[in-house]
Amino acid sequence: MQKPVFLESQQVISTQNLVTEIEAGLLAESATIAPKFLYDGLGAHLFTAITLLPEYYPTAVETEILLQYKNEIATALGNDPILIDLGAGDCKKAARLFESIKPLSYVAIDFSVEYLKEALEKLQSQYADIPMYGIGMDFSHTLKLPETLSQTPRTFFYPGSSIGNFLPTEAHALLTQIKREALGGGLLIGVDLMKADRVLRAAYDDPLKITAAFNLNILRSVNAIIAANFDVSHFCHKVVINHSKERVELYLEALRDTSVSWHGKQRLFKKGELIHTENSHKYSIASIQDLLNRSGFQALKTWTDPEQYFAVIYAK
Ligand code: TRP
Repeated sequence: MQKPVFLESQQVISTQNLVTEIEAGLLAESATIAPKFLYDGLGAHLFTAITLLPEYYPTAVETEILLQYKNEIATALGNDPILIDLGAGDCKKAARLFESIKPLSYVAIDFSVEYLKEALEKLQSQYADIPMYGIGMDFSHTLKLPETLSQTPRTFFYPGSSIGNFLPTEAHALLTQIKREALGGGLLIGVDLMKADRVLRAAYDDPLKITAAFNLNILRSVNAIIAANFDVSHFCHKVVINHSKERVELYLEALRDTSVSWHGKQRLFKKGELIHTENSHKYSIASIQDLLNRSGFQALKTWTDPEQYFAVIYAK
């Protein structure tokens, strides 16, 4: 049976770097934990459950756009693209495009490498004739693909509005690097659009509390990585819609005075104090096209749904 090839990235995910990053966030005046730590084994599954919630429109609407315009998308991408999936997760979104875009090869990149291995092996067994590569990589600071990959134009696939998890300046930096790494190829990107509070609130604070569980699980993930002792029951999930910054902000709020300690270090949290876990920036079609332009891309095609909840853009 054909097996996906796992490539060494120059940006190895070293535990020491992760520990340093988590510590700095916990000791900062406004505590923060980076969103990539949401996706440990359980977190990745909880996120998959979120994508199945009727309230979490981004995945469903993006899928609908990708399906409805699959032929136009295939035409825009051209023949036999090398498809590079940023934050591939369960690889399902990319796999749905395979029939129409027929990639020459598929490169799946994700921070959660164990979850990726499982998904990619399954996918490879379904598509034996598409060479598949996996890379365990943290591209949230720098994106540099291994030189062992063919140095021909590539098409990046960056769905799920993950670009919205970066501050606009960081998003600009990442897109600029994607442009450089594409070697003349393009980018197919999914972007969530600004919309009514009520819709956003339901999507980020669902009545089954799966999003709450997903957000709270970051504390367990941190406990495991730095041997800390967060008591998850001392915190709750909190959503703030920040209009001036055009984003949904996700926090964990201390329900009582509490503390966390690890390796001889400690952080106290007063009741009501927040730990920031993620921003989810929402764009307009004009503002995302402008960001792409400033990053060296030209938005060639924009597809959206009738309600303009979400946009899929092909840029080159
Ligand atoms: N990046 C996703 C988003 O912005 C992930 C996400 C969904 C998320 N719900 C969340 C992250 C709740 C943290 C907390 O939509």
